[in-house]
Amino acid sequence: MPSKLPDLNSLGGAGAGVEDGGGGGGKKWPVGFVQFLFVLSVVVCSLLYAPRLFVLTSTYGLDFFAGQTPPPNTSSSSSLVDGGAGGNANDDVAAPVLDNQVHSPCSSLPGDTICCDRSDFNTDVCFMAGDVRTDSASLSLLLFPNQTSPSANATAKEERIRPYSRKWETFIMSKVEELRLRTATDSADAHRCDVVHDAPLMVMTAGGYTGNLFHAFSDGLVPAWVTSQHLRRRVVLGVLSYNPWWAGTFGDIITGLTDHHVIDLLHDKRTHCFPGAIVGTRFHGILTVDPTRLRDNKSILDFRSLLANVYETGEPNQVTNPQRPRLGIVARKGTRVMENQEEVARLARRVGFDVEILETANGMPLSAWYASVSACDVLVGVHGADLTKLLFLRPGAALVQIAPLGVPPIARGCYAEASMRMGLHYEQYDAVGHESSLIRSYGPTDVVVSDPEVAKRDKGWGFVARVYLGGQNVTLDLARFGETLSRMHARALRVRSLQSQEAP
Ligand SMILES: *[C@@H]1O[C@H](CO)[C@@H](O)[C@H](O)[C@H]1NC(C)=O
Ligand SMILES: *[C@@H]1O[C@H](CO)[C@@H](O)[C@H](O)[C@H]1NC(C)=O
Ligand SMILES: *[C@@H]1O[C@H](CO)[C@@H](O)[C@H](O)[C@H]1NC(C)=O
Ligand SMILES: *[C@@H]1O[C@H](CO)[C@@H](O)[C@H](O)[C@H]1NC(C)=O
Ligand SMILES: *[C@@H]1O[C@H](CO)[C@@H](O)[C@H](O)[C@H]1NC(C)=O
Repeated sequence: MPSKLPDLNSLGGAGAGVEDGGGGGGKKWPVGFVQFLFVLSVVVCSLLYAPRLFVLTSTYGLDFFAGQTPPPNTSSSSSLVDGGAGGNANDDVAAPVLDNQVHSPCSSLPGDTICCDRSDFNTDVCFMAGDVRTDSASLSLLLFPNQTSPSANATAKEERIRPYSRKWETFIMSKVEELRLRTATDSADAHRCDVVHDAPLMVMTAGGYTGNLFHAFSDGLVPAWVTSQHLRRRVVLGVLSYNPWWAGTFGDIITGLTDHHVIDLLHDKRTHCFPGAIVGTRFHGILTVDPTRLRDNKSILDFRSLLANVYETGEPNQVTNPQRPRLGIVARKGTRVMENQEEVARLARRVGFDVEILETANGMPLSAWYASVSACDVLVGVHGADLTKLLFLRPGAALVQIAPLGVPPIARGCYAEASMRMGLHYEQYDAVGHESSLIRSYGPTDVVVSDPEVAKRDKGWGFVARVYLGGQNVTLDLARFGETLSRMHARALRVRSLQSQEAP
């Protein structure tokens, strides 16, 4: 059986680490496929929360991510085996525990069962215990009941699931292929295995909004890890909308999730057989791993350990000057640009930082980003998807997110809680009127500048996306931002001194 990806560092190679079953290497990717992902992802995380932002801000103020999970609806657990007697106790011992979530209706799954937990607001996830085989033609997973146990009474009931963690968002969910899960009625001989795997399958998608870094992590990779980490990489990823961009960009992280080749579910026509399957992923919140929901209490710091394992490849970090903490500025292009970035960098150097400007969209692989960001004591950036790289910061470091006019609630909702769970210090610097480029086009007295919250209320989401997110740059007031920098500098020195005391 094929095991590890052949080359962890082969970025961008079509089919790198994918099982080659779709007619050799000549897979054809739709023209503009990756561009399509990026078009979708011009929107940052905020836009995608727009419906709730507008529904909930009126009631809950800024805290619009609270109460993300409505009362649980456990319309789930459809045991397809209606026998009871003659269970396969032996199977249960051998089979891996698929569902690691506490209090899940699917957490103790008898053999030959399909169980779906649809109780979460964000995501559905189904588990299949037993002999699972792919049926490429119908994009189905078939469960073959153990023929020797006569009491098995498979119903014809079929579960359908789109494995993406934004089930409340109809537009994007309609772009995610639907899998059908059912108990096979014909004999297993009629559906022979082309490839037999000794690890269970987990199905996820590389589609949706994955072209955006925030979504790649928050909707895709973190949930995938949450759902499968307890299997300790003894899991096979079956990926919908598999594409070379995804495999190349996240190749290292994928090898941290699985010891096995990835299966391109839409193109691989072979019958793959597994001792069980997980379809879809859990979701614990934005860039979040909730230890209280996992049987093994894992947290986002354990996810960060995965990143450290795959990206810290031997050579020690560059020696940093102990007297000069390191500050990274995440640079943006086009919109939400920090127009006086050079001056801000000079100011930070005067305050006492070593400064690195981190250019986005320059083709730098994530491993290089990891090296730069993990060396930072402070990361500064205007709100945007690239701040997802806060996951690369070391615990104890600080994130200073700059929120342009009208953006503060969105900015906070995306990264504040994730930062705290990561053990980071989070500060938000809310730009004021004279720091915004909007003052040039609207003037200081227009409500767009003078009271963005009021301006947003009347106008709807398209306006927010166009004006505040898509049409605004900032020029930081150096006196004002200087105070933040000085405070961050003093803090970084304190943290360094504490950390050097703790180190043996
Ligand atoms: C759960 O959802 C199903 C279908 O969506 C519905 O019929 C049922 O009443 C719900 N149950 C609860 C407890 O809300
Ligand atoms: C089927 O069930 C029998 C009896 O319970 C058991 O001995 C056997 O191992 C099972 N086979 C599979 C493939 O699970
Ligand atoms: C098996 O299913 C059929 C129809 O779905 C039902 O009539 C029958 O009672 C079931 N048998 C058992 C043993 O549950
Ligand atoms: C997880 O946390 C709970 C409560 O804090 C504790 O009782 C349990 O022993 C922990 N389990 C593990 C595996 O660390
Ligand atoms: C923001 O800055 C970028 C890059 O300098 C520029 O292309 C863009 O036009 C600016 N936007 C506004 C609204 O001034």
